[in-house]
Amino acid sequence: MRNPLGIDHVAIAVEDLDAATALWRDALGLRVGVREVVADQGVEVQMLYAGETRIELMRPLSPDSPVGKFLAKRGPGLHHLALAVEDVGAALEGVKARGLRVIDEQPRAGAHGTRIAFLHPSAAGGVLAELVEGGE
Ligand code: CO
Repeated sequence: MRNPLGIDHVAIAVEDLDAATALWRDALGLRVGVREVVADQGVEVQMLYAGETRIELMRPLSPDSPVGKFLAKRGPGLHHLALAVEDVGAALEGVKARGLRVIDEQPRAGAHGTRIAFLHPSAAGGVLAELVEGGE
């Protein structure tokens, strides 16, 4: 895989979106962006900004969604790291060609017109990593 363009966002799983948003805004000074439901991933997301860097707070829409299961197992905390890439299809093929495990065999649609793919945590040293192409 070629050198990523940067970090697209860091995602944090939370139980209470309003309380977490207030914490990150009031105590840690982050700027609050849009809030949206990403039905495909079973989450409601609150976007926050530290300078240009995006942090996404994610609340599961149901306990049996992937993020709901994550919360039940591990509690609130860091969920995944998203790398911005030029070509998500090429990046994904590069990872697979090295024999590393992926969650998404093919890129799929993400929020606001992006194309995304999740790698398996074993592909990135125990970190759930997402590849993101496009967006602002
Ligand atoms: Co993400």
